[in-house]
Amino acid sequence: MAPVRTTGAIVASTAAISISMAIFSYFLFFKKTNSTLHSNKKKKPRNGVVDAIGNTPLIRINSLSEATGCEILGKCEFLNPGGSVKDRVALKVIEEALESGDLAPGGVVTEGSAGSTAISLATVAPAFGCKCHVVIPDDAAIEKSQILEALGATVERVRPVSITHKDHFVNIARRRALEANELAAKDKKVSQVDGKDREPMDGCVPDQEKENPALLSHCNGGFFADQFENLANFRAHYEGTGPEIWEQTDGNVDAFVAAAGTGGTVAGVSTFLQEKSPKIKCFLINPPGSGLFNKVTRGVMYTKEEAEGRRLKNPFDTITEGIGINRLTKNFMMAKLDGAFQGTDKEAVEMSRFLLKNDGVFLGSSSAMNCVGAVRVAKALGPGHTIVTILCDNGMRHLSKFYDPKYLAQYGLTPTATGLEFMSIK
Ligand SMILES: Cc1ncc(COP(=O)(O)O)c(C=O)c1O
Repeated sequence: MAPVRTTGAIVASTAAISISMAIFSYFLFFKKTNSTLHSNKKKKPRNGVVDAIGNTPLIRINSLSEATGCEILGKCEFLNPGGSVKDRVALKVIEEALESGDLAPGGVVTEGSAGSTAISLATVAPAFGCKCHVVIPDDAAIEKSQILEALGATVERVRPVSITHKDHFVNIARRRALEANELAAKDKKVSQVDGKDREPMDGCVPDQEKENPALLSHCNGGFFADQFENLANFRAHYEGTGPEIWEQTDGNVDAFVAAAGTGGTVAGVSTFLQEKSPKIKCFLINPPGSGLFNKVTRGVMYTKEEAEGRRLKNPFDTITEGIGINRLTKNFMMAKLDGAFQGTDKEAVEMSRFLLKNDGVFLGSSSAMNCVGAVRVAKALGPGHTIVTILCDNGMRHLSKFYDPKYLAQYGLTPTATGLEFMSIK
């Protein structure tokens, strides 16, 4: 009997423990679910698409953190409503231009861009009652103009020429804003002479209408966004991205690294972080051949003959998009950098596949390059450091190149790595 009694006692006490564990777990689960729901409820709805820009999550990239012994953190800019870090820039550019009066309500924002900035401007402009006109090179992927047109922007596809040529897409975009302003001024004059309220269209000059039909409905004037030289770009990151990184890490950040196109991101974030703590090291990562790498490491971009626009062909070829230009912009000149690294297309491609496989993160080419930069910085500083980088956009806009096996094979960029051996990590 004794053994039976013992078993009975064990069964009884096991049952009692199980029941109390179940009650305890239920209580814990209920409390947790309830508190999550509660905290979600507390988060107020954001005020329209504009208010949903920024305050993006900062995620630990587990695979890279474990491989390097550093905390490698990525700012998920691909979660902005327009799909990229450029939403911040579009918002700041439009807000400042409306505030200064350089952009009139209902006016048109023009930009020469083949990528994310145009999509962000087209996303943000309607929220302010403005329009967007984009000039893009006609060799840009057709889906880019399709997205822009779907967003309601007008798109002008032009022959690609050097930046020094008056018909470079950026220069045409600048001109379109001036033309829109001339049309608006003429429209105003005609209305004043008539002394009547007229539809804005009536004042447009027929010749200009013919040359550029996209401006037909743009007689409230124009504003050239000028993402390369407009320091609203820098301020978007100095006032937004930088402070968010500081808060999200509680100030525990040792280094920041990012690639540069306009230079706005690396300049705004590095300036903010170094003002907070001069100990924070900030780095550039760019494709080989980019003059910006030379500028940071050697103080010179290139010889006079190598300046952008003087060469027949790009001095470097990269399949990454939005990064690695070969001229000094006002935005980049604001950057506070401690050094620069280079990352190749092959490394960026391999990194994107490694992160997809190990972390489930689907990144665009510049984000993959930034992660290559984060590993370079981790190796340079050694284990135990916290390194932040930017996940600019996701892979969706890169299907026809960066994620296309045929395209990659053509350039000898087919990914083959099984781990991080391409970064010399076993
Ligand atoms: C997808 C993408 N990533 C990164 C960058 C570079 O950022 P920034 O212009 O702030 O240097 C750009 C710039 O156009 C971009 O389009």
